[in-house]
Amino acid sequence: MSSNKKILMLPGDGIGPEVMHEVARMIDWMNDHRGAAFEVQEDLAGGAAYDAHGTSLTDETMAHALASDAVLFGSVGGPKWDNVPREERPENGLLRLRKEMDLFANLRPATVFDGLADASSLKEDIISGLDLMIVRELTAGVYFGEPRGIDTLPDGTRRGFDTEVYTEPEIQRVAGVAFELARKRSNKVHSVEKANVMESGVFWREVVTALHEAEYSDVELHHMYADNCAMQLVRNPKQFDVIVTSNLFGDILSDCAAMLTGSLGMLPSASLGAPGADGQRKALYEPVHGSAPDIAGQRLANPVAMMLSYAMMLRYSFDMMAEAELVEQAVKNVLTGGLRTADIMSEKTARVSTDVMGDAVLREMGKLSASSSAHKVSGGGE
Ligand code: IPM
Ligand code: MG
Repeated sequence: MSSNKKILMLPGDGIGPEVMHEVARMIDWMNDHRGAAFEVQEDLAGGAAYDAHGTSLTDETMAHALASDAVLFGSVGGPKWDNVPREERPENGLLRLRKEMDLFANLRPATVFDGLADASSLKEDIISGLDLMIVRELTAGVYFGEPRGIDTLPDGTRRGFDTEVYTEPEIQRVAGVAFELARKRSNKVHSVEKANVMESGVFWREVVTALHEAEYSDVELHHMYADNCAMQLVRNPKQFDVIVTSNLFGDILSDCAAMLTGSLGMLPSASLGAPGADGQRKALYEPVHGSAPDIAGQRLANPVAMMLSYAMMLRYSFDMMAEAELVEQAVKNVLTGGLRTADIMSEKTARVSTDVMGDAVLREMGKLSASSSAHKVSGGGE
């Protein structure tokens, strides 16, 4: 096995540390049982970093992230930091990581596990077997566009403003990721914008169309307005394979897609940069859910999204496909077996705490690994 794999762990705030703890145990397991050679360092981000250093991400942590093979991120924010200066808000630490690591492609898969369809607020037949991928642009658009600010007009009227802006290369590179992914899935892309009201939306559609014609005409392409997409996601989500969209629409639509799977606590994500000279992409893995301050510290949080984010790290950063499938299959088996955290409970299932869920998944990994040491683990993955 080659040199150690350097992982920076940033648990962050709220439930972040609790769910990250379960992943830390999985990493130890991989080191002990699979000779994975993960070398983990932990640091502060978000409100926790603000409390310790007066900034939501120090320059040292930023440099450390850039030097790591992968970053595992928990969640940031909470009412405790509502009144900190805007530039130091916990969320800014995360935005800085995304921007400076140039993680332009945010992959947010929404899959409904067998046996979990009852946890969704939608009817079972609408969501059972669902498997869609949102590719959210992550380093441009209104999150970073200039000018932005709050100022006062000459007549004394105050105003707040942000700028939605996309360059041609920014659209091309994220759309390219979506088309490539679609080719490995069901070969269909929905490109989502508001071309009916926004110039940047007209431009987005134009650029995606041209790229499709030039390089990806084998992939089925549809254009859809973002409001219609929100509606279609709850009406008939199985029509989608890959959705590619801007930073803001992706933020909103992925929360919506997460609930199709039963809970925000289920949805992982991978944020990827462009491949470097060595072929390696910078990458950060984080659950889609936030810091959930209302349940933090009570062992109620669902660690599944964080665990599945870890599986995405195994797959996308380290090419450890069998191990990624092992984690995903173990999670699937535990859920199918009827263990649920509070967010995905139903009448027929047992409610367990964060750490009991972690115990169960680790035990299942051990079992699957033992029974498959001679042959490949089945199922899971995309
Ligand atoms: C997400 C979150 C973040 C975002 C926040 C925490 C800045 O909602 O990753 O979806 O808006 O991108
Ligand atoms: Mg969000």
